[in-house]
This record gives sequence, C-alpha cells and structure tokens, in this order.
Amino acid sequence: MRLPRESRFVASCACLLAALGSALAAVHNTAWLWVAIPTAALTAIAVHDLRQTRRAIIRNYPILGHLRFFLEFVRPEIRQYFIESDTEARPFSRNQRSIVYQRAKEDPDKRPFGTQHDLYAAGVEWINHSIVPAIASGEDVRVVVGGPSCRRPYDASVFNISAMSFGALSANAILALNSGAKKGRFAHDTGEGSISRHHRVHGGDLIWEIGSGYFGCRDSEGRFHAQRFVDQASNEQVKMVEIKLSQGAKPGHGGVLPGAKVTAEIAAARGVLAGVDCVSPPAHSAFSTPTGLLEFVARLRELSGGKPTGFKLCVGHAWEFFAIAKAMLVTGVTPDFIVVDGAEGGTGAAPVEFCDHVGVPLQEGLLLVHNTLTGIGVRDRVRLGASGKIISAFDIARTLAIGADWCNSARGFMFAIGCVQAQTCHTGKCPTGVTTQDPLRQRALVVSDKAERVYRFHRNTVRALSELLAAAGLTHPNQLRPHHIVHRVSPTDIELLSASLPTLQPGELLSDARHCGVPVFERWWDRASADSFALLTLHEPSTATVRAQEGRALRTGAPVYDATR
Ligand SMILES: Cc1cc2nc3c(=O)[nH]c(=O)nc-3n(C[C@H](O)[C@H](O)[C@H](O)COP(=O)(O)O)c2cc1C
Ligand code: SF4
Repeated sequence: MRLPRESRFVASCACLLAALGSALAAVHNTAWLWVAIPTAALTAIAVHDLRQTRRAIIRNYPILGHLRFFLEFVRPEIRQYFIESDTEARPFSRNQRSIVYQRAKEDPDKRPFGTQHDLYAAGVEWINHSIVPAIASGEDVRVVVGGPSCRRPYDASVFNISAMSFGALSANAILALNSGAKKGRFAHDTGEGSISRHHRVHGGDLIWEIGSGYFGCRDSEGRFHAQRFVDQASNEQVKMVEIKLSQGAKPGHGGVLPGAKVTAEIAAARGVLAGVDCVSPPAHSAFSTPTGLLEFVARLRELSGGKPTGFKLCVGHAWEFFAIAKAMLVTGVTPDFIVVDGAEGGTGAAPVEFCDHVGVPLQEGLLLVHNTLTGIGVRDRVRLGASGKIISAFDIARTLAIGADWCNSARGFMFAIGCVQAQTCHTGKCPTGVTTQDPLRQRALVVSDKAERVYRFHRNTVRALSELLAAAGLTHPNQLRPHHIVHRVSPTDIELLSASLPTLQPGELLSDARHCGVPVFERWWDRASADSFALLTLHEPSTATVRAQEGRALRTGAPVYDATR
C-alpha cells in the first residue's frame, strides 16, 4: 500500500503539535517541559531539514530521513558483529583477527571440536605432515641478510613489522611496536615517514625506509641529501636500509599528507615544514633507470657503512623487473634484499581503484622475483621478504614455500595493538588510537600493555610456525618447497603447488630464456634492457608467436604469470 504524499510530513507535524500542546500544558504543570523541549527541538530540526539543500532525502522526509543516515552509519558495525560469519574476509575475517588477539593476549588459541572450514571447497590449502615429525624448537628462526658487498649483515627474524610511518600511525602505536620488537628481537620498518623520536625511545631494531620524498634525508627541494642520510643511517638502531619503489595498496601513486596533519613532530621526523602539504612523488628523483637504481643501492650501502640495502616493490610490468635483473648482471651490483608487497596489502589511505585494480598480488609477484633471481643465478645472494595479508603461521609457511626468506606483517601487528578493523584510518578518528594524531584518542592505546601484546603475537606466531614445520618433518623454514603445500582445485581434485606454479632452474635465463617454458619470460625477457625501464621494440615477437605462447600458457595450466604480462 502506498502512503499519500503528505504522509512524509507526519513526523514533523506530530512534533509541531506535540510541542505546541505540551508548551500550553507546561503553563499549568512544568513537568510537561520534558515533552515540550525535545519535541520543539525536533520541530526545529524539521524546519532545518526542509530548508537545507544538500540532502534530498531529508528535504523530502524531514526528521524521518535521518534514520537512513543513522542506519548507514552503523551498518559496518552491524555487519561485523551480527551478520558476517567467522570465515568471511573483509579484508580480514573474524577468525584471522581472533588468532592475532588470542596470541597477543596469550588467551588460549586452541580450537575445540574440529575445523570450521569445508575442506572440500575449492581454494582450501594445507601442508602435508610427516609420519616422523621433527622436534619443534619453539624458537624464532633467524635469516642472515647481507650479500657479498655488505659489511654488516643483519640477523633478521623470520617475521617482522612491515613499513608503517609515524603520521599514518600514532606516536603511541610506534612506541608500542618498537618496544615489542625490542623485547622479541625482531625488526620494525619505519615506513617512508622516516625515523621519529618515538622510534628511538625503546631501541628496537629499525629498517629505515626511504621513499620518493627522501624524508629524513632530503634537501629543501625534496631531493636526496647524502650527509643527512649518513647522519641517520649510521645510528646503531638502523639495521637495514630499504628503498621504497612502491607498495601493494597503491603502486604507482604518490601520496600527500595534508598540511593540516603535518604536526611539528611529524615535520621534525621528515625534515619538512609543519603545516605544509608533505608530498611523496610517484617516482624517485635519485634515479630513473635500472642501472641508476642499483647504483643508488650501492651508494646507500656505502654511505650507511655497509649495512644491508635493498628495495621494496609491488610487481607491475614484468619487463621492468627483468630490466633490474639485467642491470644486476651489467653492473655486478645486487641488492642485499628485496621485499615483495602484494596488491592485497594495506595502506593508511589510497584511491579505491588503486586498492582494487592496480598491482600484482603477492603470490604472482613473489614468484616472478624469485624465479628471475634464480634464473640469473643470484638468488643465493639476495634475500626475499614478503608481505600481503600474512597473519598466521600457515600464511608464513606457504609464503616461504613459494620463495620468500622472511615475512612482514603490517595489519597483523595493528590488530595486536588493538585495531578492530573499523576502517576509518584516513579520517584521523581511529577509535583505538592506532592511526590518529589526536592526543585524546591516542590515550586509549596504553604503550606498556600493547608492547607486550606485540611481543607475544610475534613469539606465539613463530612458535606455531616451528610446530607446523616439525609436523611436516622439517627443521628449518628454508627447507620448505612448493611441493609441501597442497591446493584444492575442486571438490574432487587437489594439486601440489609445485605442479601449478612455474619454476626456473638456476642460471636458466642466462642460457635460453626464450624456451624456458614460462610464458612471461619467453615473451618479455629479451625485450628488457638494463638501461631503461621501457620495453624494447627490437625483438617484437610476431603475432603468431604471441598466440602460440598464450595457447601454451593455458594448456600447461600455468597462467599465473599472465597477470604480469
Ligand atoms: C596504516 C598503514 C601504513 C602504511 N605505510 C606504509 C609505508 O609508509 N611504506 C610502505 O612501504 N608500506 C606501507 N604500508 C604497507 C605495509 O607496509 C604492507 O606492505 C602492506 O600493508 C601489506 O601487509 P599487511 O597485509 O600485513 O598489512 C602501510 C600499511 C598500512 C596498513
Ligand atoms: S581501528 Fe579502524 S581506524 Fe583504527 S587502525 Fe584499525 S582499521 Fe584503522
């Protein structure tokens, strides 16, 4: 039944009448003021609603229209607490968050009664166990980072805090993360916002990230400044130097911290002016070619006194990474490490299109980098870190199995310090004090308590990893290979990751890239150059060759690299 058009004014008229009636009644009995005042206020709101021009709904439905905006406002919480199942991921499921909360609080993380997952659903994965399990040490596993030109290798944990800047995170969040890292002997990546005074309070190991804004080592024009770099990099707390090329959530997009958010503290850490927009350009000004990048790596390593120096990227055009690999061959310079970030990675703020539709996800990006380094014979001197929704020990084991040497987590550690996935990080109104510069909101995050949680989340996760490895009969994560992980393709078919993921043999690209059997290399390797990130047109394959390669990719069931073509 349709209501008559005028019914939309029923609420406003009722309020007006109630306000008038109760005001008259209040002349005899003041108790009526309890009715008169609220109804008069609602009548005033109705008048305002009718006069305003921004929102059509409340102009048409005075008072009642606010209900719609209220419901929209509380919708995420209603979904999260009452509607979503424990396994639905948006972006992290209740189960994923619970495991962090439990490990961080040292609550029991065991589950009674059996798995909640449908083990016959496509996409389910597991690690095969051994009849003769090894003995779990329960200890963290260390990974030595530092190639032949590195004079001060770093003994890293297998699980570290991924890059998040002071500015994106609150001072208390930085303090808690760094204190936890110190206690647990793992690394804390500064993010591109450089090293703030909060990073220095507890003395936890730092990976100093240098983005295109060169924060902490820039001149007044925003270009790289060698002496300022030396001043910071020579600090004992800085264990490694990481050049940021891109991050998975917004690769190819720079960033701006609006002037209003550039507080004096943030400005001091970054070497910029307080109150002025702080810009990270999309590209670096210190280099523009693959050889230029590697020369910059070598320069920073030298300036830092020989500390491990590498770069972080989310893979994009395959030929650009091939160009970097060729530059390694031409210059003889290899980075000590590369961190591969997946497109599924997080951010403080990014345009929706970039979050959803730009960049290669972790599995394909990591495989591309791992296979390229293997194919040119330098994999043993370059360590690989990886990040992108890595939360549990199984996530770590799987990522190590397909090529990483260590894993980083950003949002996992945010959960450990209290993040509830409200997803309002970009508004400055984080309800848990994690991503806000508001001193009052930050007070909610008690540093000593949350530092302990960071420590425990790390310790209990690496302990779980050690138990997982032992169950598979392994004693070290570097023994993990793709054949240890099983993937369900359909209710009746399973396959080992080794069967579905492409693999190159050591040095294979140096002999015959065109016939290595992996389409992305066959198609692009010859067209990459150490001198430029551009695609060479010299050996453009014929349309027939391209079609043949595409056909083979489909037939061999190895289309994973197609995403990067
Ligand atoms: C709040 C926030 C801030 C971030 N800031 C940076 C940054 O400054 N530099 C960077 O390289 N990555 C940054 N990232 C990306 C993370 O370091 C990481 O690569 C990505 O989130 C994937 O890890 P996750 O899935 O465990 O969150 C940020 C992520 C978040 C959530
Ligand atoms: S609680 Fe919400 S706003 Fe705060 S860090 Fe977590 S997702 Fe961001």
